[in-house]
Amino acid sequence: MGQNNHIHHHLFEKQNKPVKFSGSTLEVVHQLIKRYPEGQQKSALLPVLHIAQEELGGYLSVDIMDYVASLLNIQPIEVYEVATFYSMFYLDKMGTYVIEVCRTGPCAISGGEQILAHLQDVLEIKPGETTHDGLFTLKEVECLGSCGTGPVMQVNTEYYEKLTPGKVDKLLEDLREYANQPKPGDSTWVEKFC
Ligand code: FES
Repeated sequence: MGQNNHIHHHLFEKQNKPVKFSGSTLEVVHQLIKRYPEGQQKSALLPVLHIAQEELGGYLSVDIMDYVASLLNIQPIEVYEVATFYSMFYLDKMGTYVIEVCRTGPCAISGGEQILAHLQDVLEIKPGETTHDGLFTLKEVECLGSCGTGPVMQVNTEYYEKLTPGKVDKLLEDLREYANQPKPGDSTWVEKFC
């Protein structure tokens, strides 16, 4: 019995990497939480979820949401509700680059449909899917608030406007190239919230 427990424990550890922020990120998170009076720590939830998604693998697993709940001293269900409500939080593993194409009227009629069709063609995926190399996830979204410069799409945090199939091809090429380069640790995203 004792040995079985040991094996089980071992497997559990192997399959579930412990979820934890790095020391410096944890400090940022504690600073954020401290801004709010006792009992209102939930106000820090959105920025902390952003940081968690960014730092802990690009999406919010149940383990990560539970970890965030424990840090903010709130119920896990409160975190699940917020994470599922906002489309900027991902509950599944996403590609390195999440391409969100605006499908709302003004963009659609100025060439947005063609852009989406082109992306489906060249990436060989449908909206909601991720390429086999894990690089690109394609999504259709509603108005991105930049209707005068359509067609528009957002790739991670960047906007790309007045798109043509040629511009899209060039961007995909650049992103592929960038993804294959070694990068220094990028902490700018976390710093934005300090
Ligand atoms: S309709 Fe596309 S950004 Fe508004």
